[in-house]
Amino acid sequence: MRAASGGLPATLPGAPPRAASLSVRGLDLTYASSRGPVHALQRLSFEVPRGAFVSVLGPSGCGKSTLLKLASGLLRPGAGQIELSGSPVTGPRREVGIVFQQPTLLPWKNVLENVLVPVRAMRGDVPAARERALELLRMVKLDAFARHHPHELSGGMQQRVGIVRALVHDPALLLMDEPFAALDAMTRENMMVELQRIWSTTGKSVLFITHSIPEAVFLSDRVVVLSPRPGRVLQTMEIDLPRPRTLETMGSPRFAALAGALRGTFARMEEA
Ligand SMILES: Nc1ncnc2c1ncn2[C@@H]1O[C@H](COP(=O)(O)OP(=O)(O)OP(=O)(O)O)[C@@H](O)[C@H]1O
Ligand SMILES: [Mg+2]
Repeated sequence: MRAASGGLPATLPGAPPRAASLSVRGLDLTYASSRGPVHALQRLSFEVPRGAFVSVLGPSGCGKSTLLKLASGLLRPGAGQIELSGSPVTGPRREVGIVFQQPTLLPWKNVLENVLVPVRAMRGDVPAARERALELLRMVKLDAFARHHPHELSGGMQQRVGIVRALVHDPALLLMDEPFAALDAMTRENMMVELQRIWSTTGKSVLFITHSIPEAVFLSDRVVVLSPRPGRVLQTMEIDLPRPRTLETMGSPRFAALAGALRGTFARMEEA
């Protein structure tokens, strides 16, 4: 296991120029609620190198979705800074694609039209995006379902449409908030393999939020563990398992050692 931070280069070898780096420095956020202030994040700092897959793992309520909203520019921090490829994030950015926990597809639109929603909202080039959407749907094996409506799709298929929708405008950074949390265990494992394939094919940088230690170890180059609220970085672990990873990788001693070390961090967190 490689030591804490600084193990990954700022740009992964082979990362395409389109991939972005994300730098989070000294982030602090307190919500003003009717029951008083809620300190969600405290002096949070970490990096997503260009082309890297970084997971943020933490207990419920520690501020993970808050972090994603800050990274996407939907929320402004009380203190600290977020930079996308060196430029400060001050609002929503075209270079970012977001995958939410629920696929949130519009039931009255077919799959292809759902995928095109962000392109239309950004007044993008719809004919070009339609070509790209069909290509991406082919990549996630849903090209035969382009004219189907969401209710005709399984949960895993809908989640894949959500991923395609986030990729259709060719973002440099993909932000994913527990995208597989609502799926059954088997679909979830297949989706992990699928996401690894999408990531290696498209070369995006990914910031992936999860509750699941195996999911984080399987997918990531780096795992950042947050403390209970207010979320602070407790541990950063570089995952040096060779790629491409397969479901057999999850049975390897190395995988068990990495997952075990993260489980230890969680156990100590609960004792504290
Ligand atoms: N709009 C808001 N106003 C007030 N408090 C909020 C708001 N949004 C979130 N919080 C609080 O901030 C804390 C962090 O919330 P957040 O949704 O970021 O947690 P999370 O780590 O994503 O949790 P989960 O794993 O359950 O999704 C929680 O205590 C939550 O109650
Ligand atoms: Mg959340």
